[in-house]
Amino acid sequence: MSVDATEVAIVGAGPAGLVLSHLLAARGIDCVVLEQRSREYVEHRVRAGVLEEPSVSLLRSLGLAGRLDREGLAHRGIQLAFDGRRHRIDFVELTGRSITVYGQQEVVKDLIVASSAEIVFDAVGVMPCAIDTDRPSVQYRHGDESHELRCRIVAGCDGSYGVCGPLIPHRTTTEHTYPFAWLGILAEAAPTQDELVYARHDRGFALYSMRSPAITRLYLQVAPDEQLAGWSDDRIWTELSTRLPLDDGFVLNTGPIIDRGITALRSSVSTPMRHGNLLIAGDAAHIVPPTGAKGMNLAIADATVMAAVIDEALHQHRPERLVDYGPACLGRVWRTQHFSHRMTTMLHRFDDDPFRRELQRAELLNLTSSVPAATDLAEQYVGLPFPTLEPL
Ligand code: FAD
Ligand code: DHB
Repeated sequence: MSVDATEVAIVGAGPAGLVLSHLLAARGIDCVVLEQRSREYVEHRVRAGVLEEPSVSLLRSLGLAGRLDREGLAHRGIQLAFDGRRHRIDFVELTGRSITVYGQQEVVKDLIVASSAEIVFDAVGVMPCAIDTDRPSVQYRHGDESHELRCRIVAGCDGSYGVCGPLIPHRTTTEHTYPFAWLGILAEAAPTQDELVYARHDRGFALYSMRSPAITRLYLQVAPDEQLAGWSDDRIWTELSTRLPLDDGFVLNTGPIIDRGITALRSSVSTPMRHGNLLIAGDAAHIVPPTGAKGMNLAIADATVMAAVIDEALHQHRPERLVDYGPACLGRVWRTQHFSHRMTTMLHRFDDDPFRRELQRAELLNLTSSVPAATDLAEQYVGLPFPTLEPL
């Protein structure tokens, strides 16, 4: 058994764990990141693609936005489509702020390459121990060797199926599942729009997005138990061209599909977000449905609060400050849950209930004809301010 020591052991090299590692490094706090997958795997896992303005500002302030600023696509707004017509919500006009389209795996690559912390990829059997003492540790295996990483705090950033969340005793999960999933594709096809199009259609929701001037990202609402095998390329393109409001100005370029996957939609929040010296962030603590692109941004927001409480606990000798972590995050987490739920229920086909369909139309009409309603959506879409700790 090899024994090492650090101040913070971070479990998981997703957006939450990697951003936390940079925030800690900026405060002079030593950490090690333990990731069960290979570097190749985490750098190529296709997921979210929209960065809120506060996330971009944070990455810039950490000096991590060089490539993001060069290659990210700045979007002034989004389009909402219903009854075959598109309507713009102009974020810059309504809020003075914008969003950036940049793949989650690109963020992950940038955070890994610039990391000063040790990141152990391919860590097997990662398990935090003694979290309710002041000498916690994390055990894992790497290659043929068993390791113990002694630390003062364990940061559980290991996603929705990680090992850290279940270690919190008396954990309560409030959740909601939706009767549909998303089929997402990446295609080698030049986008023809410079904004995302969220389309409500009687056959189901569709989303037009992109990753670069050469790659389009597209999503379709499908049944919750849908199998990829049932979706030939032809079927995907036909369904997309039916659901998206194509017209003279909106052409759907097709091309080779280079990635495809199905993701179930759910909302969940688990509390508390801390037990002893274990703190949980990102998907390990809460899941939002993807409509509105909040998952990665929420993970980054948690990391900012976690870094602040860890700094106070370790460097200002106020371990009692750890108690404030979850409560400081949860207000924004629930507001974001509400936003993601609202976007989801407004845009997806639920059943053939005509009453619900008319309510969806009414909400979309309201959003696209009332400046205060559009401003409310725009403010939430570009990103609520990150939470801050109450001063002592
Ligand atoms: P993750 O990114 O999940 O990172 C957790 C890390 O921990 C992973 O690298 C994992 O390998 C590692 N890990 C897990 N268990 C262990 C362990 N026991 N030991 C060591 N390491 C471990 N959001 C959107 O906004 N739009 C989307 O289109 C979208 N699509 C998604 C598609 C899928 C398939 C999934 C799963 C999520 C999607 N999301 C999307 C959500 C968004 O990607 C997440 O909210 C975001 O990744 C959360 O970041 P995180 O760091 O908390 O967790
Ligand atoms: C993307 C994903 C989303 O969930 C969303 O609401 C907008 C864009 C994307 O992957 O590009």
